[in-house]
Amino acid sequence: MTIRFDNRVAIVTGAGNGLGRAHALLLASRGAKVVVNDPGGAVDGKGGGHAAADQVVAEIKAAGGEAVPNYDSVAEPASAANIVKTAVDSFGTVDIVVNNAGVLRDKTFHNMTTEDFDFVVKVHFLGTAYVTHAAWPILRAKAYGRVVVTSSNSGIYGTFGQANYGGAKLAVVGFMNALRLEGQKYNIMINALAPVAATRMTESLMTPEVLDKLRPEFVSPMVAWLCSEQCQRTGDIWSAGAGTFARIEYREAEGVRIAGRAPTLEDVAENIDKIADVSASRVFRTSGEEVAAVVSGS
Ligand code: NAI
Repeated sequence: MTIRFDNRVAIVTGAGNGLGRAHALLLASRGAKVVVNDPGGAVDGKGGGHAAADQVVAEIKAAGGEAVPNYDSVAEPASAANIVKTAVDSFGTVDIVVNNAGVLRDKTFHNMTTEDFDFVVKVHFLGTAYVTHAAWPILRAKAYGRVVVTSSNSGIYGTFGQANYGGAKLAVVGFMNALRLEGQKYNIMINALAPVAATRMTESLMTPEVLDKLRPEFVSPMVAWLCSEQCQRTGDIWSAGAGTFARIEYREAEGVRIAGRAPTLEDVAENIDKIADVSASRVFRTSGEEVAAVVSGS
């Protein structure tokens, strides 16, 4: 099976470096017309410039692909909408949105300013929402869309010193869970990526041998699959890195039911190990399913 993106228009945010660059190159190499969004700037989001986006556009064109740059930030509604406008003005529509843009402002929570907290949440979570919000009416009207949000094992499992980043990275999963339900009727598939890659964001944490195994282009096949017409999966979290690909899911323990009387604090204390035991567990696909199971005790 050869997967192609001919006549598809893709937006990749933060595509001037690292993972976004690799996603943009792969999509373009398979025929997608790509908006390479990147305002430039350092890992902490300070500064800016056109070089990062321009360089990736030049690489795509040199390989025979089609791409245009966009230098807007995802982190404000108007500039995020302008990214989508660039796609429409340049290529007439949008089919694929890869929300990849990201920054880091790591600090232990007691040393973290609320400004650094807000900024990281704005880029990762609100930026994802703003860009997707601007594209959504187009995807809905054409009854076709593929959206990727970029989560992180930092949000899913936890990383010391990343309360802002980890929180924002799991927020995009909650966002996806709602849009999965809202988009299904319109053939809009939305999935979350949890990547691991050696980029300027992570390279200082890794040895040279590990860096080589974690090339960003080893992640992009997962993203391209999620952006393809062939992908009929929606609302899942996908781990990808170093050539390993794996779905991540939440499970809820069978738990303990106290029936026929009001449960007490002691009931919880006495049963805590059983409440925590996920050896028998269930997976729910909507909050309604979970509430129904809790209420019925099934
Ligand atoms: P990177 O720093 O190489 O790339 C991030 C890109 O986003 C940069 O080019 C930057 O200019 C751009 N960007 C920053 N603020 C922006 C804004 N307001 N609007 C548009 N673009 C903006 O980092 P990397 O590693 O490629 O990260 C890509 C995504 O993957 C991020 O969302 C990151 O949080 C996520 N991620 C990366 C992991 C890794 O192992 N590298 C692990 C988990 C998640």
